[in-house]
Amino acid sequence: MTSNEGDYDLTILLESELEDKKLLHKGKVRDIYDEDDELLIVATDRISAFDRVMPRGVSGKGAALTGLSEFWFLKTGHIMKNHFISKLDDRTLRVRKAKRIDIEWIARAYLYGSAWRAYSKGLHEISGIKLRSGLQLAEELPETILTPTTKSEHGHDEELSKQKAIESGLVSSDEWKELEEATFRLYEYYKREAWLKGIIIPDFKLEFGRLDDDLIQIDEPPTHDSARFWSRDKYVVGEKQEKHCLDKEFLRDFLLRKGFSGEGPIPELPDLVIEQISRRCTGAYEVLSGKKEISSLSLLSVDEVLNITG
Ligand SMILES: Nc1ncnc2c1ncn2[C@@H]1O[C@H](COP(=O)(O)OP(=O)(O)OP(=O)(O)O)[C@@H](O)[C@H]1O
Ligand SMILES: [Mg+2]
Repeated sequence: MTSNEGDYDLTILLESELEDKKLLHKGKVRDIYDEDDELLIVATDRISAFDRVMPRGVSGKGAALTGLSEFWFLKTGHIMKNHFISKLDDRTLRVRKAKRIDIEWIARAYLYGSAWRAYSKGLHEISGIKLRSGLQLAEELPETILTPTTKSEHGHDEELSKQKAIESGLVSSDEWKELEEATFRLYEYYKREAWLKGIIIPDFKLEFGRLDDDLIQIDEPPTHDSARFWSRDKYVVGEKQEKHCLDKEFLRDFLLRKGFSGEGPIPELPDLVIEQISRRCTGAYEVLSGKKEISSLSLLSVDEVLNITG
């Protein structure tokens, strides 16, 4: 169905089936198997948007997520310990099981997404940081801002201040400090590495967990699903970056244009949309890991796709 080059198995896998393994958790994208002190994380080809899993899968997605996770985890262990043990196959990671801290550590260096929506409604303070007026969509912020949310099993994640996180017992004050610093240190690394490959990471989300006496990074590092990736050379302040992005914003924008923002039936996803998502997922992995130049990916904007598909 797609025209992705590369070494991926192009079969689309929506449900993992590891015989003789205990399924612990089925996330929106990944299936987690319990192996006592360890977990097997199988990245399927499922894709979600607005907290809903789409009915179609995206070829190459699970392999790209897994490859990119391995790439980052191997490089950043000296900055913050992480759960990575090994990559078992194209879509499976063996990791150390931790007790998850129910916080999504979101950091932003550019004004976009929910932060832009709040700012453009007149809210000029984000997570305690005052922003000057007159900032534009996608503009770089004067400093990186942490905008954490709760991580809830059900319902929507809510904004979380340091005080609220400590008062509600999610973390101690010392843990907050350590994890905030780790998020910023990791961001510096991700940012620099991505920039060299022609990519801007304007924001991303991390998770951490407790293991013995340590705090470790779990879940996934910046990927197509957990971060925004913009093209450094095509970046324009004041505009949406969805045409050249290698992240989920393309799908979100397509769905919004079809009138979907999470409620009601999911619009049909034409082959061309699935193909464009696939190019972005696999592209993120291939460009960040140095296998391809970002300029070699043939990407279309949502407008261009709608002109073709109607
Ligand atoms: N090392 C780890 N130890 C414990 N839990 C982990 C670890 N790594 C990842 N997880 C958890 O595994 C799950 C991965 O699932 P996935 O990202 O596909 O879906 P999700 O929609 O985020 O999950 P959820 O159902 O929790 O909302 C997340 O709940 C994540 O917190
Ligand atoms: Mg997740």
